[in-house]
Amino acid sequence: MKGAILKQLRSSKDIVSGEYLSSALGISRVSVWKHIHKLQELGYNILSTANGYQLLGSPGIPFPWEFGDREDSIHYFAELSSTMDTAKDLARKNCPDFTVVIAGRQTAGRGRLNRQWLSEEGGLYFTLVLSPDIPLSASFRINFLASLTLARMLRETYGIAADVKWPNDILVADRKLSGMLSELEGEADRVSFINIGMGINVNNDPAGAETAAISLKKILGREVSRIELLSRFLDEFEGRLQNLGLETVISEWKQYTVTLQRPVRIVTRQEVTEGLAIDVDDNGALVVELADGSTKKIIYGDCFHQ
Ligand code: BTN
Repeated sequence: MKGAILKQLRSSKDIVSGEYLSSALGISRVSVWKHIHKLQELGYNILSTANGYQLLGSPGIPFPWEFGDREDSIHYFAELSSTMDTAKDLARKNCPDFTVVIAGRQTAGRGRLNRQWLSEEGGLYFTLVLSPDIPLSASFRINFLASLTLARMLRETYGIAADVKWPNDILVADRKLSGMLSELEGEADRVSFINIGMGINVNNDPAGAETAAISLKKILGREVSRIELLSRFLDEFEGRLQNLGLETVISEWKQYTVTLQRPVRIVTRQEVTEGLAIDVDDNGALVVELADGSTKKIIYGDCFHQ
C-alpha cells in the first residue's frame, strides 16, 4: 500500500486529497492517514494539510515498495550483520528465486577470503538469492555474469568507464567501486541456490578506510539513487538470465577486463602466486604465466594488479 500511495502522490505536483486517495486505493481515509504517518516517520517529506497530502521529498532508502512489482521479493533492513547470513537463512527456507536482501549498513560485512567489507551508510549492500536449474560446474558463470552486467550497466547508464578485475571486482581507473562474494549450496550435481552478495560504493566515502577504493558519488560529483541503480541492475541481470544462455559469458566478460596481460599477484588461502595473467579459461580460472614460462590455473583468490 505504501508503494501505491507514493505512486499517487508522485503523479501529482499538487496536493492530493485524502478522499481521492481513499477511493483510488480502496481503503478508508483513516487507513490513508496511518500509511502517510508511517511514511513520514520513515523519512518521506509529506506535507499534510486540511485539503490533503503532497510529497515534497523522499529519503532515497531502498525500501521494498520503491521497487514496483518486485516489492514482495525485496527485504530491506536498516542494519544487518551481513546480508549473506540473512539471505542464506531465507534460501534454506526455500524463498523464491530472485529474492533480494538489502542492508542500509552492515556491522560484519564480509569480503572474499574472510576479509572485512566496510559497510557504512550510503553504500549499496545486497545479496541476491538465485536458484537456477544448472549443474554445479556451470555455477561460476553466474558470478561472472553478475559482474559483467554491473560493469555494462554502469557504462551505459552512468557513462562510467567501469572495468572488471578477476574474479569479480569492478574498478574505475584502477580503483575499486564494487566487490562481489558468492555462496553456493547444491545437491547431487545441481545447484540448490547461489547467493550473490554485492557491495557497491555509491554515496559512501570508502577512501577514508581504503585508499584504493572509490564511490560513484566521487566519480560523478553528485549523489546517485541506490533505488534506481539496483532496479536497473536487477532488470538487466534477470533479463539476461531468462533470455540468453551462459555459454558466452566468459568471452563477454573478457571484453571489459583489465586483468589480462598484466603482471599480477594472486593470494589464496594456501599460497601466493606471481606472474603474468594471460587468460581466463572456460571455467573462470585465471591462467597465469610464471617466471619459468610454465602456466598455472587459479580457480579463486584475491588478485592484485602489480
Ligand atoms: C570482496 O570484494 O571482497 C567482496 C565484497 C562483497 C561485499 C558484499 S556487501 C553485501 C554482501 N554482504 C556481505 O557481507 N558481503 C557482500
